[in-house]
Amino acid sequence: KMKQKIGIIGHGTVGAALYKQVENLPEYEVIKIAVKHPAKHKNLTGSLLARDAWEIIDHPEIQIVLEAIDHSGDALDYALKTLKQGKTYISASKKMLAENLSVLLRTEREYGGHLLYEAAVGGAIPVLRAIREHLTAEPISRIRGIINGSCNYILTKMALEGIEFETALGQAQELGFAESDPASDIDGFDTYYKAVLLAAASFGEMPEFTRVKMEGIREVSLADVKRAAKQNEKIKLVADIQRVDDRFIIDIRPTYIEKSDLLFHIDNELNGVIIYGQHTGPLLFQGPGAGGNPTASAMVGDLLNARNGLTKKVQKLLLALN
Ligand code: HSE
Repeated sequence: KMKQKIGIIGHGTVGAALYKQVENLPEYEVIKIAVKHPAKHKNLTGSLLARDAWEIIDHPEIQIVLEAIDHSGDALDYALKTLKQGKTYISASKKMLAENLSVLLRTEREYGGHLLYEAAVGGAIPVLRAIREHLTAEPISRIRGIINGSCNYILTKMALEGIEFETALGQAQELGFAESDPASDIDGFDTYYKAVLLAAASFGEMPEFTRVKMEGIREVSLADVKRAAKQNEKIKLVADIQRVDDRFIIDIRPTYIEKSDLLFHIDNELNGVIIYGQHTGPLLFQGPGAGGNPTASAMVGDLLNARNGLTKKVQKLLLALN
């Protein structure tokens, strides 16, 4: 049986895990991987190593491009070019997606491409899919979440082990949770991008919104987390997304969480998202929100959902036969 040919852009923490996971699927074959610094990836040999990302995107046999890089400008160029060829683009680039969602969705529609990005929010947690496909008709008034694994890891280590901020951040980097520029994590940007993607999934493609506040965890001291612990509370970086009429507001800040709060037990690099549906009541989604394998797993899920893995040619053929 013919295997579906895949190209991967990026071979960092997520890209490398992705390559391994896709290689274990009998129906898919990774034929090209593009990396910025080939010298750093000596294990990618022969024809597997692409000249550059464009070789993958323009490759006539590759209909599905998986991308996990952190340069959002490059990622946007790659996404648009891929979609314009009517191909499928599966991305984990939160910044790129959040900042360009309107143009991406327009391009997807116009050219018949397919954009998937479950991995961009909550890592392995299928939260975007749950909102779009399960809660399709459910009026969602609010979403609260811990959606940055690195910040949660740092705050947890400070609170439970008395580890200093910088040391805990170093660990988060070593474990592959943090962005290559961790400022994006600790200053709240990463949380903000994910909040935008959650809001867009819940309240319609890019509705009007206001950002009330975006405060990261730099100012949170060991004394602060200890004081919280004494009161049986925890400090967590929480994104609060609320719907007010036809707008929504995003508020991101370190927040005191009481024991009765569903987010209280979301520790270490776990993410937790509470969706407040009008008929459902609060729904809690929790799980690994960062790291190579969990993030790659969500991308593999997208891969198998990419128009059921059929190439455009095959789709046309099937349509013609019907
Ligand atoms: N740096 C991100 C985090 C990775 O810590 O949550 C997952 O998006």
